[in-house]
Amino acid sequence: MSLTFSFAKSLKSKADTAVIFLTKEKKLTASGVALDKQAGGLIKHALSNEANFKADLGETFTITLPTKSDFARVVCLGLGDFKDIDPIKAETAGGKLFLSLDKAGAQSVAVMVDALPKLKTIKLEVLSAHILNGIELRAYSFTKYKTKKSEKKPLSKITMAGDVHTKAKSLFQTLNHINKGVFLARDLVNEPPNTLYPEAYAQIIKDELKPLGVEVEVLDEKKMTKLGMGAIMAVGKGSERQPRMVIMRWNGVPKSKKTDRPVSLVGKGVTFDTGGISLKPGAGMDEMKMDMGGSAAVVGAMKAIALRKAKVNIVAIVGLAENMPSHNAYRPGDIITSYAGKTIEVLNTDAEGRLVLADCLTYIQEKYKPLFIIDLATLTGAMMVALGHEYCGTFVNDNKLWDQMEQASADTGEKLWRMPLDPVWKTEMESQVADLQNLGNVGRFAGACTAAGFLEHFVEDGTPWAHMDIAGTAWSKQDKPTTPKFGSGFGVRVLDKLIQDHYEA
Ligand code: BES
Ligand code: MN
Ligand code: ZN
Repeated sequence: MSLTFSFAKSLKSKADTAVIFLTKEKKLTASGVALDKQAGGLIKHALSNEANFKADLGETFTITLPTKSDFARVVCLGLGDFKDIDPIKAETAGGKLFLSLDKAGAQSVAVMVDALPKLKTIKLEVLSAHILNGIELRAYSFTKYKTKKSEKKPLSKITMAGDVHTKAKSLFQTLNHINKGVFLARDLVNEPPNTLYPEAYAQIIKDELKPLGVEVEVLDEKKMTKLGMGAIMAVGKGSERQPRMVIMRWNGVPKSKKTDRPVSLVGKGVTFDTGGISLKPGAGMDEMKMDMGGSAAVVGAMKAIALRKAKVNIVAIVGLAENMPSHNAYRPGDIITSYAGKTIEVLNTDAEGRLVLADCLTYIQEKYKPLFIIDLATLTGAMMVALGHEYCGTFVNDNKLWDQMEQASADTGEKLWRMPLDPVWKTEMESQVADLQNLGNVGRFAGACTAAGFLEHFVEDGTPWAHMDIAGTAWSKQDKPTTPKFGSGFGVRVLDKLIQDHYEA
């Protein structure tokens, strides 16, 4: 995808499409008036005759302009009545605007940003930057495996023209860095499981992050076996393609005020989840290529953080494994020994994510003593049943961390909902014959909560920890305003925002 953005006080080069903003009164802005004049009053005429166009937030109206105009068409973007417009709503409007531009066949677009006198709740540059951000987020597509390229020339150039261009540009640059992380996460989730297996994935992480100054270390199967990481190794045993653990470090705190304890992220990277010997049903199994969505969000967040040159020390770990049935696979009934030394009775090989995370959690605490840990995982179908594709259930053992996450969630529109951690579920995961078991006792009931209860056994007392079960949010078969269907990149923005607002020096 090659969509470029530029910013100027006034338009310098030609564009085929102009975008003007309209409030509910449909009163033209300065640029709108100028365009209307050039078009002999066509715009005013069209607007007053089009009763169905209410100029609600995100609603668009496209008008073809006469032959001699500067543009082939103008797209009017409704902004409603400004009452409760915020950055997230501006992005939604931007996403919808992209669809109209795409439908009209626009290739180069000039977004005319004029003063909007009644705009009070948000600065004009913030509004503009987030509208552009919505366009960029929605314009993403995953086409690398299409051998026939689309004949339609895509939207490739957007210029924002207006007095607030300098401020809008600097705001957008930060958002654009974060989007690069979001797009990497989406690409990784969308990548098929025959090409994205643990070893290949580890290489991609190196290729993506090392040039940005992130230290990347890969533990292979020999190293992990030697270290005694019996949980992640058991999960990957059935596959020819052996597990990897990838450790990423970004040291962005200036040397003079170095606080050595980093913040930390952990991601589940099951590159394909067949369920193993506890095999999943065939229908829809293809979607289990997204079972590395947690790791993708973590890698994407590291990319965003490095691109922003964030002043934070951060260490991230992803556990990569393929869960396959084979003569070599781990079995229900097996008792394995985790890196923490705790034995685990495997009651279901499809509850593999928690095993992968267990060894990652132990390693990160032992080695880095982090200020907090946030893990992300497509952990349970139960989470998807509970909250669908809209909210990510989040289990947190620390109220301060939750407050910060809730704020970051409200600011980015990546919706989090706090879920309960209860000692009952922690206890439920104790086995009769081993220290722990990987399944709750009451079947599917509270499945997301018992999974969190299992993970809790691997978090040391006093370590602030959050577990984000992104089973429902990492992937969707339906388009959303700023997220095309399939891999969503969910998590990158909320993690980046949390760090930006609370953990940067
Ligand atoms: N990766 C799945 C969870 C999942 C399901 C993610 C659907 C996204 C969509 C996980 O490894 C799994 O299989 N969980 C089991 C746990 C059960 C065996 C306790 C589940 O949810 O059924
Ligand atoms: Mn599974
Ligand atoms: Zn899984």
